[in-house]
Amino acid sequence: MNIDEAIAKIEDIPTISAILGEILQITSSEKSSLKDLSRLIYADQAIATKVLKMANSSFYGFTQQVKSIDRAIVILGFDEVRSIAMAMSVFESIYLKKGGAYYNRLRSWNHSMLCGFGTRILADMFIKDKELEAELFVGGLIHDIGKVIIDRYFPKEFAKILELVEQESLSIEFAEREVLSFDHALIAGNLLKKWKFPDQLRDMVIFHHHPENAPHNKMHIALIFLADLMCHELGYSTFICESKPKIEQCLDSEQLKIMQEFGFTLTPENLVELMNKLKNHISKLENLSNMMLN
Ligand SMILES: [Fe+2]
Ligand SMILES: [Fe+2]
Repeated sequence: MNIDEAIAKIEDIPTISAILGEILQITSSEKSSLKDLSRLIYADQAIATKVLKMANSSFYGFTQQVKSIDRAIVILGFDEVRSIAMAMSVFESIYLKKGGAYYNRLRSWNHSMLCGFGTRILADMFIKDKELEAELFVGGLIHDIGKVIIDRYFPKEFAKILELVEQESLSIEFAEREVLSFDHALIAGNLLKKWKFPDQLRDMVIFHHHPENAPHNKMHIALIFLADLMCHELGYSTFICESKPKIEQCLDSEQLKIMQEFGFTLTPENLVELMNKLKNHISKLENLSNMMLN
């Protein structure tokens, strides 16, 4: 089956909620304010309710009830509320929906959310651009939505893919190409194109296994590649059978060499620091996941 036939078969997939694109758009403007973000979040009641629930969860430890999005933005901060709202919209439109036989909603969501956090940590460390950080967070969050799509729309093929991964220790993307002729990165990238997502975000998804092949912004995509490896190393993969090489073995890989080209050296020492930072996000992740799934 070629990619066009596959895309035609998944016509009915719900598009990612419009609020995500709007938040990205509005917050990339210098003039965006607390009011703009608050207005957008209130426009989607399901997301507004979840953002407030999160602000009131024990994780943030506020004793007084947070009753409005404006107040949540003041006490949690603009960036935090923006990230939560974007994560909620991806969750509602993709991860909350019914998946196929192998879909473990919690496991898939935890992988994508932790990768979003990881990418944000790396962007903060290596890029230091708040707007780009928001886009990279979304890139990390949606990098593997193609797996959910393949599982849901091509269940028979997906069973074969997982069998190959398990029996022959192949990477999931290699097995996908063997069985379907395309992988989860390519199918998701094609859907994002159809949904008119910004080119940069689409490239983050298409090239997340091979940032060195991206036509632009290789360095940004390399951060998603690294965050993805970090999640695997912490035991947060999408499927139990899926394994990836250890990051230490990848320091000289084509994918991570890109960071050196941009003047950032990744050493075993700063890797430990990065892993510790990501580990500190695990309790936040579990809190968020429990809240959303219950
Ligand atoms: Fe992937
Ligand atoms: Fe991944």
